[in-house]
Amino acid sequence: VRIFSGSSNPVLAQKISKELGLNLGSIKLSRFKSGEIYVHYEETIRNCDVFLVQSFSHPINEHFVELLVMIDAAKRASARTVNIIMPYYGYARQERKAAPREPISAKMLADVLTTVGATRVITIDLHAPAIQGFFNIPVDHMTALDLISDYLKSKNIKNPVVVSPDAGRASTAEKLANYLDTSFAIMIKKRSAHNESSITHVIGDVEGQTPIIIEDLIDTGGTIINVVEGLKERGAEDVYVCATHPLFSGNAIERLDHPNIKEVIVTDSIMLPETTPERFKILSVAP
Ligand code: R5P
Repeated sequence: VRIFSGSSNPVLAQKISKELGLNLGSIKLSRFKSGEIYVHYEETIRNCDVFLVQSFSHPINEHFVELLVMIDAAKRASARTVNIIMPYYGYARQERKAAPREPISAKMLADVLTTVGATRVITIDLHAPAIQGFFNIPVDHMTALDLISDYLKSKNIKNPVVVSPDAGRASTAEKLANYLDTSFAIMIKKRSAHNESSITHVIGDVEGQTPIIIEDLIDTGGTIINVVEGLKERGAEDVYVCATHPLFSGNAIERLDHPNIKEVIVTDSIMLPETTPERFKILSVAP
């Protein structure tokens, strides 16, 4: 077994290899002046089970192509299997045609990864679990929900209510509510454009309770801020925000450093700056 890191999340790759008692393999990742990507495994991987750690963090397209080049080089170096540890699978919000003449990018990416030579994918909290079926190779779909739930239990939150930011996340909210042995509510949102939505109403009781919002990912933070404001308008206490993937585009970190948010609980599936505001808690998915 050999484990190598792409450039998206070397900190997590290091932690994973430590968990496994392995050293990270040596790989050269560089760029030509033109921006083209060069990869060279600096040790033999012939007949090895190779694990490549790469998440879809900014710049997403760059990291994706880097991963493809890593897979290609591994295959041509006679690796026995090429296993992709992809904590966050990007383009997952484009998993169906919501309008005519749109792509299904999540499926196209799966095709590309497999065609190039990936033999297994290990990922966490896909935006839509059915994306597993876009691959014709094994997909280990793991979840950070238990990690988040264990952390929340340690906080002994008074009058908690788990909140799904939209109808699509309701079954995740229900699962978390079951783990925490509490009730859940669902916010109904209207989407006006990419990264823009507003809350129209809430199903369930939130007044006087402490909401725990559960999301798969936070991108610009717009959805979360709308939900937090919607909950406050309905008489809820300050909230806990939980999400597996902290994409944090633009000024999301500043936006989420919000007085009505007690804590922002995310994982290290995406590499964050070394320092984040005090209300941010980062749980590691490495174990
Ligand atoms: C939407 O269905 C997703 O689960 C997220 O709620 C959304 O994409 C997050 O984006 P943003 O943080 O930009 O609102």
